[in-house]
Amino acid sequence: MIRTNNCGELTAKNLDQVVILQGWVKKVRKLGGLTFLDLRDRYGYTQVVVEESQEALVKGIKPEYVLEVKGMVKARKAKNPEIPTGEIEVAAEIITVINPSALPPFVLDDDVEVSEETRLKYRYLDLRRPKMQHNLIMRAQVNHLIRNFLVDEQFLEIETPVFGKSTPEGARDFLVPSRLNRGKFYALPQSPQLFKQLLMIGGYDRYFQIVKCFRDEDLRIDRQPEFSQLDLEMSFATSEDVMNLTERLLKKILQVTKNIKINEPFLQISYQEAIDKYGVDKPDLRFDLPLKTLTSLFVNSENKLMQKFNQEKAEIRGIAIENQLLNKGQIKIFDEISAQFNLPSLGILKLENQTWTGGLASSLTPEEKNGLLQTFGLDQNAKATILIGGGKYHHVSHALGEIRNQAAKMFDLYQEPYKLLWVVDFPLFEFNAEENRYVAAHHPFTMPQTDFLPTFDIDQQNAIADAYDIVMNGFEIGGGSQRITDSEIQARMFKAIGLTPEQVKNNFGWFIEAYQYGAPYHAGLALGMDRIIMLLTGADSIRDVMAFPKNAHGIDVMSNAPDNVSDYQLEEVHLKLK
Ligand code: AMO
Repeated sequence: MIRTNNCGELTAKNLDQVVILQGWVKKVRKLGGLTFLDLRDRYGYTQVVVEESQEALVKGIKPEYVLEVKGMVKARKAKNPEIPTGEIEVAAEIITVINPSALPPFVLDDDVEVSEETRLKYRYLDLRRPKMQHNLIMRAQVNHLIRNFLVDEQFLEIETPVFGKSTPEGARDFLVPSRLNRGKFYALPQSPQLFKQLLMIGGYDRYFQIVKCFRDEDLRIDRQPEFSQLDLEMSFATSEDVMNLTERLLKKILQVTKNIKINEPFLQISYQEAIDKYGVDKPDLRFDLPLKTLTSLFVNSENKLMQKFNQEKAEIRGIAIENQLLNKGQIKIFDEISAQFNLPSLGILKLENQTWTGGLASSLTPEEKNGLLQTFGLDQNAKATILIGGGKYHHVSHALGEIRNQAAKMFDLYQEPYKLLWVVDFPLFEFNAEENRYVAAHHPFTMPQTDFLPTFDIDQQNAIADAYDIVMNGFEIGGGSQRITDSEIQARMFKAIGLTPEQVKNNFGWFIEAYQYGAPYHAGLALGMDRIIMLLTGADSIRDVMAFPKNAHGIDVMSNAPDNVSDYQLEEVHLKLK
């Protein structure tokens, strides 16, 4: 090792020391006879000064050259309190070019606007930007913290296969053809769910893994085809035990990374309450802005829109944004959200100085307007915009839930930086209209809650699962459940989702068999690490917390994967498909 120090650590304590730094040129500038270079590495940057008499040392040096600089640490004339090395500079005696750099396609500063496509194409350059380094360094720190925390809690880190059989998380699988077994495919795991359950049967008691999972689904800011879970499972444990441990871990992560101390237990709300109050099953509770049901208020309304809703037997729901009178542009944004859910434009009412305006102002009766004020807990002198929509309950709730999130962004309604909560009491099943059958809402190894054990397979619509999601700032950052460990309940579960004994045997026979050999009761959960780091770093998407993500079309634009394969390989796949 030749460098004596990194580029982020020299301070006034090092004055008069001769040091050797190695790093990238962040900036070169001339000031009078002097030349200044900022030398950067992942620890920070240090100012290097070159006297006029030494000018030859910096001849031809440009940004992103990799240099070795030997020189003496001197006090700076103009100090920079913004950075740790701001008191000093290194007076260069020898400068060696380790490697030159071509002109980068964009300036590697945080505040330079550059398209994501370009950033991803030159990801190795983008990764030099301080913001990206901060994100990935925090990610590494959190992984480290998780490992320490769980090892202290007696967890064992155990790897599970990447080449396996299809798993039951509900997305499409990525498939890998097997050369040795013509016509057969491995499926990449959507999660290690089945293997971790088998580890409990294997007696490993407390398992965890920070693991890549693969799901072929449409991509969003919080979804990538390959992503990382902190996956864990606990034997002789109930949902409560898993939730308790997860809560302690998440509190620790927040404390270490953000210096935020949460003492009280996380809020727990039921799935139904989440939909009723906030429209979605992952509510952002950094702000309130609850949804209200207005159907009974408008049941005899003369207003055309309300009459239309009544005729359609639609539920009428709304929100009131206090202290804001929305303008046309803002309303348009909300109408667009409504349109995405195939709902009609929103009904609008605005109140200020006891005067009503907006589309519905002239056609609602004073009683209806008073009813609205009462429902939303507003008084006559309030200033507010009320947005009203109608449709199927879940539909209109979901749309208003999205509008609620958008309104919080638009008017910065957030009251705290982080809000975590558990959503519990999820339905055990979802109805899949395409297949005309119920499917498991979480996965088919999730226990029904005790009250629903006698009836879950005959009254699927009302059955409630012993499952839980953890939500942070409106994102689902994790989920888990108590597992079925009783083969009779498991058989009823498969029947309830319309699987024949034959299908069960073919798909899960190997797995079900294991439960005949003495299974401990067990529960677990998986956290979406990418989403958590996105929220902790304030990144706009999970792509910004992954070193080499895919773009929104699932393409790695740097290497151009996925790509064609050789004719020989393609032939192999075709042969297998035949
Ligand atoms: P689930 O399917 O809820 O549960 O996944 C757990 C968490 O993983 C994250 N996640 C994703 N993150 C980025 N991109 C994706 N495509 C993606 N899909 C999911 C989410 C989610 O909450 N085996 C069960 C867990 C269990 O029951 O123990 C499972 O995988 O943050």
